[in-house]
Amino acid sequence: MSTQKMKVLGFAGSLRKESYSRSLLREAIKLSPNEMEITEFDLNDIPMFNEDVEKQGDPTIVNEFKDAIRNSDALLIVTPEYNSGIPGVLKNALDWASRGGKDAPLLKKPVAIMGSTPGRAGTAQAQSQLRQTLSSTRSFVMVEPQVLISEVHKKFDKESQMTDEKTGQYVSRLLESLVKWVTCFK
Ligand SMILES: Cc1cc2nc3c(=O)[nH]c(=O)nc-3n(C[C@H](O)[C@H](O)[C@H](O)COP(=O)(O)O)c2cc1C
Repeated sequence: MSTQKMKVLGFAGSLRKESYSRSLLREAIKLSPNEMEITEFDLNDIPMFNEDVEKQGDPTIVNEFKDAIRNSDALLIVTPEYNSGIPGVLKNALDWASRGGKDAPLLKKPVAIMGSTPGRAGTAQAQSQLRQTLSSTRSFVMVEPQVLISEVHKKFDKESQMTDEKTGQYVSRLLESLVKWVTCFK
C-alpha cells in the first residue's frame, strides 16, 4: 500500500546563484525524511507587487506561485538577513501570496523557517521579522526548533555542499518536527 508523501514547497529569499540560503534549502531536500517531498520554487521571476496589476489579474508566475503554495501541505522558507530584516525579494513574494481573502494561499498554511548568514547572529533579526509577517498572514509558523546558521561560509564548500555535520542535524531535526507540526492542522 502506498501512502502519500507530505508535500513541502521550499523557497529561499535570495536570487544569488551561489546563495547559501539556496544551498541550505537544497541540503534540506537531500535530508528530507521518507514521508516528505520538498520541491523548490524559484522567486526570481516574481514581479514587484503592484495593486494595479493585481486588479487586472495575477501575472502567470504569481498564479503558479500561489497555486504551488495552495497545493502544498507546508512551506519551508529559508531567509538570509539584509539590514537586520528579510530581503525585499522574500517580502515581495509573501505579499503576493498573502492576497486572496479567504483563499489566500498563506492563510492557515503550516510553515517552517530557517536562515543562514556569514555573520555571527544567524539571521535572528530576519527570522523574527519573518515570523511577524507570517503572523499577519495568519500562517501557522512552527515555533521550534529554531535553525539559525551563523558563519555559514565555513559550513559549505566551494561546490555549495554542506560540510558541517551539526548543521545537517539541525536541518533534519527541523524537518522531523515539521512532519509532526503539519499533523496538528489536519
Ligand atoms: C544588502 C545586504 C544587507 C546585509 N545585511 C546583513 C545583516 O543585517 N545581517 C547579516 O547577518 N548579514 C547581512 N548581509 C550579508 C548576507 O547575510 C550575506 O550576503 C548572505 O550570504 C546573503 O544570503 P545568500 O548567501 O543566501 O545570498 C547583508 C548582505 C546584503 C547584500
